[in-house]
Amino acid sequence: NYRIGMASNYLRHGESIANFSSGAGKISRINAVTLGESPASEENDLVLPSDEFCRQALIPNPQKYLEMYKRSVEDPAGFWSDIASEFYWKQKWGQPVFSENFDVRNGPIDIQWFKGGVTNICYNCVDRNVESGNADKIAIYWEGNEPGFQDSLTYSQLLQRVCQLANYLKDVGVKKGDAVIIYLPMLMELPIAMLACARIGAVHSVVFAGFSADSLAQRIMDCKPKVVITCNAVKRGSKTIQLKDIVDTALAESSKNSISIDLCLTYENQCAMKRGDTKWQDGRDVWWQDVVPKYPTSCMVEWVDAEDPLFLLYTSGSTGKPKGVLHTTGGYMVYTATTFKYAFDYKPSDVYWCTADCGWITGHSYVTYGPMLNGATVVVYEGAPNYPHPGRCWDIVDKFNVTIFYTAPTLVRSLMRDGDQYVTRYSRKSLRVLGSVGEPINPSAWRWFFNVVGDSRCPISDTWWQTETGGFMITPLPGAWPQKPGSATFPFFGVQPVIVDDKGIEIDGACSGYLCVKNSWPGAFRTLYGDHERYETTYFKPFPGYYFSGDGCTRDKDGYYWLTGRVDDVINVSGHRIGTAEVESALVSHPQCAEAAVVGFEHEVKGQGIYAFVTLVEGVPYSEELRKSLILTVREQIGAFAAPDKIHWAPGLPKTRSGKIMRRILRKIAARQLDELGDTSTLAEPNVVDQLIALADC
Ligand code: WTA
Repeated sequence: NYRIGMASNYLRHGESIANFSSGAGKISRINAVTLGESPASEENDLVLPSDEFCRQALIPNPQKYLEMYKRSVEDPAGFWSDIASEFYWKQKWGQPVFSENFDVRNGPIDIQWFKGGVTNICYNCVDRNVESGNADKIAIYWEGNEPGFQDSLTYSQLLQRVCQLANYLKDVGVKKGDAVIIYLPMLMELPIAMLACARIGAVHSVVFAGFSADSLAQRIMDCKPKVVITCNAVKRGSKTIQLKDIVDTALAESSKNSISIDLCLTYENQCAMKRGDTKWQDGRDVWWQDVVPKYPTSCMVEWVDAEDPLFLLYTSGSTGKPKGVLHTTGGYMVYTATTFKYAFDYKPSDVYWCTADCGWITGHSYVTYGPMLNGATVVVYEGAPNYPHPGRCWDIVDKFNVTIFYTAPTLVRSLMRDGDQYVTRYSRKSLRVLGSVGEPINPSAWRWFFNVVGDSRCPISDTWWQTETGGFMITPLPGAWPQKPGSATFPFFGVQPVIVDDKGIEIDGACSGYLCVKNSWPGAFRTLYGDHERYETTYFKPFPGYYFSGDGCTRDKDGYYWLTGRVDDVINVSGHRIGTAEVESALVSHPQCAEAAVVGFEHEVKGQGIYAFVTLVEGVPYSEELRKSLILTVREQIGAFAAPDKIHWAPGLPKTRSGKIMRRILRKIAARQLDELGDTSTLAEPNVVDQLIALADC
């Protein structure tokens, strides 16, 4: 019954978009808005794409969008199979094109797209480009952390590298369906390893190389990989991080729990560390360079069903245990390719740079798969975006003539703080489309990105999506309609977002509430690895009949969507999703910590920071040394990116009589909104609140 209300859904925002193009007098050009100026209402701010941009855009006007959107929701099977037909399928999918049960009340949630279709995503990313005349086109420009270190691969060279690794993996016994953990920094070997796994039907699970040994061990124990792929060390900024040591610790930890890994394939990253300095376990550890280059440069593709798993990616939820988000092959392929193409108005002459790491979903869908499925030239940057100076990004943009630049608001804010001079000393004239992802982009950062970085020429695609969604869900299509700074605008083709209230009732028109989706889309995740029940409980049970995103959202009078942040116990730090429960469980593992409660608070650069209320074991005094050691515990157990920004000593925590911590109050204390604490009379001990306030700035 997902079709009910469909027509009104697209008309709802359709009409308002249509108004823009009919010159309804609502549009004012704000390209000239000066920095820092805050207009009365963001809602009324419209930024028009230039005529020049629209003339060349894939979706040049609202009518074209509406026409395609209408078809995508009225005839999803036809819409998506037309697009899917542009890829190579060894065998075409069966009927129906897709099937879904999206309503827990009707049985288990089940989403399938292109079932029966036989394909391979690596073939479509690489071989297909080589065979269609792009063999000599650059697939990857690689830029090292240290200026001056660079490399590149054409599509045919990429194919050879992928095949050598694929052959090696097959030779050591990796088979279709086996898991492979990849713990690598942004070397070219990272996308190569992902593609090699996909080529042989193995399921990759990339673990962001900023995660600690404990987090890595947890993931190894969950998915039990045949092989772990890593490198000895990496330089990030001026620091050298010895990744192999972290892997050694993780492997020791997992073998204590009877998960032993027989093979650790280690790339020698000479820029960071020589092999002689690397700790080694003979019999288990193998240097990539010693074995992989000996293998043949061609490798038969393992053809897989569209619904065979492609990868697992762990993400944070509201409990301490990370969730293994599982994506399958066919739908993900079609969806990432299509979203990439339209949201960035991709043309074959583009040079595309996404600053995300392949350890997160953005690097999966929009460094590796989406762009390569389009035969794009992708910049892969190993280092820190402000190293050795805050102009490094624009130096790289000019060097490779980057045309599409996709990043996170946290980076925009930090570069904005460093000053315009680092931007304006570079030409940036190649840029034509900008993108933002990971957290809501505040209007002032949006304007700086637009005016200063993009010289008021480049539309910004503020793409809202999630690890779970596989690809963009709500995003501008540059050239299609006016933008509003800070709004992700309208849904992508085939996506029917809805806003529901506390009771799960869909609300119409301008409103605020919980963001849900009421139909499946090809890139949707299919399950949580090994825990379909948690999949249903977390995403489909809160509001039966819908997929619940965990985000709050406002729809304005013109139908534009504005994401307002997580409404669950997940915080978004520099665009990284962190579960408060994960940080709490790390803190309470400290022998001197009795209890911890973690909330997010507004942070100027990171978007949200981590604020931890900590109750110490009876008799232990609070000290600076202890504060540092608590933070260190979190770094060791999760990773540096999850380190609390603030530790607040809490002799007691505000709890209800049934013992539930009232986080609402803690959030207000963290934000220092002390006059907005609300009703504290239901607390078991109302005076703990005064105690906490008294200790706020100690
Ligand atoms: C947030 C990252 C506002 C949101 C792709 C979501 C955003 C979570 C945006 C997913 C955006 C992502 N505007 N919020 N453009 N993009 N988010 O799984 O809270 O790492 O639920 O995927 O990031 O984070 P994840």
